[in-house]
Amino acid sequence: MSIVTSKEMFKKAYEGGYAIGAFNVNNMEIIQGITEAAIEEKAPLILQVSSGARKYAKHAYLMKLIEAAIIDAEETAGFDLPICVHLDHGDTFELCKSCIDGGFSSVMIDGSHHTFEDNIKLTRQVVEYAHDHGVVVEGELGRLAGIEDAVNVSAEDASYTRPEEVEEFVAKTGVDSLAIAIGTSHGAYKFTAAQCTRNEKGILVPPPLRFDILEEVSKRLPGFPIVLHGASSVPQEFVKIINENGGKMPDAVGIPEEQLRQAATSAVCKINIDSDLRLALTGSIRQYFNEHPDHFDPRQYLKPARANIKKIVQHKLVNVLGCSGKA
Ligand code: G3H
Ligand code: 13P
Ligand code: ZN
Repeated sequence: MSIVTSKEMFKKAYEGGYAIGAFNVNNMEIIQGITEAAIEEKAPLILQVSSGARKYAKHAYLMKLIEAAIIDAEETAGFDLPICVHLDHGDTFELCKSCIDGGFSSVMIDGSHHTFEDNIKLTRQVVEYAHDHGVVVEGELGRLAGIEDAVNVSAEDASYTRPEEVEEFVAKTGVDSLAIAIGTSHGAYKFTAAQCTRNEKGILVPPPLRFDILEEVSKRLPGFPIVLHGASSVPQEFVKIINENGGKMPDAVGIPEEQLRQAATSAVCKINIDSDLRLALTGSIRQYFNEHPDHFDPRQYLKPARANIKKIVQHKLVNVLGCSGKA
């Protein structure tokens, strides 16, 4: 099995009422943790690479590591692991082109910070090049709050997707999937304390996702795959481990998993998760260092960190996305 597009994955996910996990990758341990989980669960997979990841690890390293994971799945488990390799938050035509030319099977062109017309123009340009090369494209309407390398949107600048725009956008651009903003947000601090209530344990409870917008969008685009970014749940047990081992992440808060489970049964076919993996990795390493201050062999602390990534991904595949056994 070689690298595949998400076309078939999304068709089956839409019809089957589940979603595909799109996990961000930056190095070997992250790729191994995710793919080991997918192999064990026989789950289709999207591995996504941001421009920051590409700068950090370099395109060729990430591609070769992903290819190695496919070979490993075949050799150790006799399993054809379907992996779609996707550019996350591409912001220019040139970046998308470079990823397409370099073997990615899917790209996102994030024109959500442009005007509606300019977003259409840029997205259309990427779609034409991508489709000519057998690559699929994700576009975006609406703006999520949050901060990453390529995206820095304050809560005031965030805006929900306007359902009345989606048909024109999809028709004029030819995109294969559409990311929408319904209240998710990037990073580990998705909401301010003022936007939340607190439960009896003092933990922040975020405002619910706007399922009404999702429903209106899917009514207007029947059968069309929708994407959710910023869908980490920020497990409180990871935050606790980090904070108990020298970290400082007060009031980190994510999207409750029940709401993501609900989204996965709808038109949402792709759910993006990065921060939860970062928390799993960081928590594990912090704890290891605290417990073994004399150790300095990276294999000693990266091994449990990789295992922790595998565990959280497996949990997502089975209990949140519902895509276990769907490969
Ligand atoms: O939403 C984007 C991902 O979390 C990637 O973040 O740009 O820091 O690699 P990054
Ligand atoms: P999180 O920060 O919620 O994991 O979102 C990741 C994402 O949307 C990648 O594009
Ligand atoms: Zn994103």
